[in-house]
Amino acid sequence: MKKDFYDFGLIGLGVMGRNFILNVADNNFKALGYDLDDQKVNALIEEGGNPDRVNATGDLTEFTQGLSHPRKIMLLVPAGKIVDQVIEDLLPHLDKGDIIIDGGNSFFTDTDRREEYLQSKGINFFGSGVSGGAKGARRGPSIMPGGNREAYQHVKPIFEAVSAKYKGEPCVAYLGPKSAGNYVKMVHNGIEYAMMQLTSEIYDVLKKGAGLSNEELHEVYSSWNQGRLQSFLVEITAEIFEQKDDLADGYLVDAILDKAKQKGTGKWTSQNAMDLGIPIPTIDVAVSMREISALKSERVKAESIYPKGEIQSRPKEELIAEAESALYFSFIMAYAQGLHQLADASKEYGYDLNLSEIAKIWRAGCIIRAELLADISDAYTALPELDSLILSPVFVDKVNETLAATKGLLSYGMRNGIPLPGVANSLNYFHAYTSGRLPLNLIQAQRDHFGSHTYERLDRDGIFHTEWED
Ligand code: 6PG
Repeated sequence: MKKDFYDFGLIGLGVMGRNFILNVADNNFKALGYDLDDQKVNALIEEGGNPDRVNATGDLTEFTQGLSHPRKIMLLVPAGKIVDQVIEDLLPHLDKGDIIIDGGNSFFTDTDRREEYLQSKGINFFGSGVSGGAKGARRGPSIMPGGNREAYQHVKPIFEAVSAKYKGEPCVAYLGPKSAGNYVKMVHNGIEYAMMQLTSEIYDVLKKGAGLSNEELHEVYSSWNQGRLQSFLVEITAEIFEQKDDLADGYLVDAILDKAKQKGTGKWTSQNAMDLGIPIPTIDVAVSMREISALKSERVKAESIYPKGEIQSRPKEELIAEAESALYFSFIMAYAQGLHQLADASKEYGYDLNLSEIAKIWRAGCIIRAELLADISDAYTALPELDSLILSPVFVDKVNETLAATKGLLSYGMRNGIPLPGVANSLNYFHAYTSGRLPLNLIQAQRDHFGSHTYERLDRDGIFHTEWED
């Protein structure tokens, strides 16, 4: 193995790692992989074709000696303890100034801890979200790096070359210090959960309300993908409805158990939003729906106790039009909530995030890529300190023109027992956020009544307490 030869090292040659390293090699950077599994090492050497272009080893000394300085080593291993273990294994082989990049979905406080620890040893650590799944890793993911700004200059040319491109612009940017990259990726995933929930409930209402077949659903989602709803998730949803089952007759989607799994990033987004005090109800309910979905046997039992009445059917074209608007409206609310969380986290954790830039690097490569993101980026370019996307002049008309249909779809769903929690939370979030006066004055009165918790007044400054009449 040649020493000081390879530009980029990658640890973890699973599906993501193998695809990412081949992408690096395709972009004319000499890449070296490492994995404990000989099969994975050999598979990469074979697939790479030329060891001067891409090579692999199961020997950590050989791996680290093979890399040029400062070493740039990316980890694509499962988040959690394994990341700490790999760091410990690597440390004796590294020199000051070397760079470790964690490309997994690590929890952001773990990244802060690791960054501080490695900084004390003179090693630069990047928590870097990578989105786009296996295909993205191979053909161009969206990359969200955070860490030391100066050290990023060494990584920048490689990341810019391998990332997805939107109209020629790379979908990667230095996002901020410490765990900024992992945090942004976590919220990306929260938005991803919301968009997946929304596309699923819209499918439900179209199927139950207008009897759309899988072929028709394919047509509807495909045509939506040509319009303002253009997005990766709408695109793959259209593809899913076309897929025939190869184990039985019919379409695959109908044979899949309705229990959605999760690895935790959506839940972390909600948990941290609660800690920050930022409302993200569309994302929250997307997490809750995965939890409700897991209660399959309870749901089946409950349905027999509370049988659903007959659903009043709707003309197809009318329901499809309403659904399109409701989905668009709710997508806007999901992005608005996620970006609001990012704005607040940026202040709280000192990330100094540029929301326009973040929207830009989400325009291609990642799971939540959508036509809408170009408008979102414009909204934040025009007003970087925007409190909420909803307040942006770029979005006022888009929200107003979809509001009536969203209300129509939701009331139809509620009357007919079709759960639409994502749309409902999006609409209620909007109604609440745009209410100058909410009934929470009553909650303050109740708190003061039973617990002397005090309240403030509209008409004068100060903190008040009342001896309420029994
Ligand atoms: C991405 C995805 C990815 C995530 C999966 C699975 O951006 O490529 O967010 O990182 O791991 O979507 O997430 P769940 O298993 O939690 O659904």
